[in-house]
Amino acid sequence: MIAIDVHLDADAAAAMANDVREGLTASPKELSPKYFYDERGSQLFERITELPEYYPTRREREILRDRSAEILAAAGTPGTLVELGSGSASKTRHLLNAMRAAGSLRTYVPVDISEEITRRAAAELVDEYPGLDVRGIVCDYETHLERVPRPEGALIAFLGGTIGNFRPAARRSFLARIATLMYPGDRFLLGTDLVKDRAIVEAAYNDSAGVTAEFNKNVLTVLNRELGADFDLDAFEHVAFWDPENEWIDIRLRALSEQLVDLTGLDMRAHFARNEEMRTEISTKFTRERIESSYADAGLELLEWWLDAEGLYALSLARPAQQ
Ligand code: AVJ
Repeated sequence: MIAIDVHLDADAAAAMANDVREGLTASPKELSPKYFYDERGSQLFERITELPEYYPTRREREILRDRSAEILAAAGTPGTLVELGSGSASKTRHLLNAMRAAGSLRTYVPVDISEEITRRAAAELVDEYPGLDVRGIVCDYETHLERVPRPEGALIAFLGGTIGNFRPAARRSFLARIATLMYPGDRFLLGTDLVKDRAIVEAAYNDSAGVTAEFNKNVLTVLNRELGADFDLDAFEHVAFWDPENEWIDIRLRALSEQLVDLTGLDMRAHFARNEEMRTEISTKFTRERIESSYADAGLELLEWWLDAEGLYALSLARPAQQ
């Protein structure tokens, strides 16, 4: 059975407008990475995951492929999988397979911002898993987490390393809200990329085929379309470097010359000096200690920890901290 609830507000467009206005008037300028993911941006990200330099997706898939039975058992063999940012649910199948093998599989709750992708994934999954109950929620899980139904004894998965896009304060409050929403029997499964040799991480965000650069600039295409802007994509270049202090990759667009950009939808004009950089994303890398302390700050407790064969990426399992 498939049931998809759409919670995208009419004010989603207004929220974007406010957000972008704030980001373009801030100093330094900054845009939210959530605007990367229109149809084309999602396709470009899919291509990134196949690049030789971009290891995180492959590493995470490897852990799920090899350890899903173990993960499921450690989580108490739940019948429900809730997935935040489910997308095409390609890696999810490893978890669903383990649930099916254990005889516990009942319900899959994909939560994603894209209605189209969620419907497509739901239709495929009910075909592949006869009898599966798919209760999809189309919403922005960052602001509408409370709208996700909370069946007791669920495994709540947040994969892909997307937690790395949050600033430390936003990460803390997001994890704390998850902790608050969890029943004592729920478990949280988190995918995180790890701190490693700088050259490996920088190569992953500066691929030789230029797909990451195209992905980064796509946010300007989104603003041109959604906010009536006139960004010239050729006037900006992709910048991505390791920030050792914050332990994140800092991703920016740099104006190659002075630019005046009109945004008719915002009734504003943005000025870029030559070489001015606008941040479009951070991608934080973690250590086990950092994850444990992030959990502790949020009222969660680390239960288990799984690495790929080379120790580049981790999945961790947490529960609400015992009072
Ligand atoms: C999907 C957010 C995990 O941070 O590695 C890939 C996005 N940005 N290349 C990441 C991304 C540039 C990706 N996440």
